[in-house]
Amino acid sequence: MKTAVIYYSMSGNSEYAAWKVADALHADVIKIEPVKAYPDSGAKKFIWGGKSAVMGEEPALKPYEFNAADYDRIILGFPVWASTFAPPIKTFIKENKEALSGKRIAAFTCMAGNGGEKALDKLCKFIGIDSLEAQVVLIDPKDKQTTESENAIANFIDKLRTTI
Ligand SMILES: Cc1cc2nc3c(=O)[nH]c(=O)nc-3n(C[C@H](O)[C@H](O)[C@H](O)COP(=O)(O)O)c2cc1C
Repeated sequence: MKTAVIYYSMSGNSEYAAWKVADALHADVIKIEPVKAYPDSGAKKFIWGGKSAVMGEEPALKPYEFNAADYDRIILGFPVWASTFAPPIKTFIKENKEALSGKRIAAFTCMAGNGGEKALDKLCKFIGIDSLEAQVVLIDPKDKQTTESENAIANFIDKLRTTI
């Protein structure tokens, strides 16, 4: 089972989870980034990113290396923005929609407190699948470093291990 963890992270929480999951599953890691970075501090951070998510934007991405044929499973990781998945992930899915069909797909999402399940539902709808192989919502796992988050990441990994 060859797995790729594909993630977007503005402030490191999704990145933190991405590497934990990838290390445990011996997966490749692919980081996606918008060409034009979103402001990542102050009020602008929430206004620009929030507006982009609400408007359903698909920001252009910096070049990334992803050959779908190399993978059986794709794990998507991203922050919740305005109760949906962060826009760079939308662009990635749009650019790889056909390649993703027929793959096993799992996802984790990071949030401050609300909207994680909604974001995962919206992700499924956008990809065009009924459910994910595994999913987990994490609360700022890098910034908060709670046992709860660590356990949730471990359970997510275990669920995927059992289907190898
Ligand atoms: C533009 C923007 C919108 C956000 N919207 C939400 C939200 O709807 N619900 C929530 O719980 N957290 C929200 N957050 C907080 C992040 O989802 C959360 O801090 C996450 O762990 C950040 O992940 P990252 O460090 O990988 O970027 C938002 C953050 C930003 C920048």
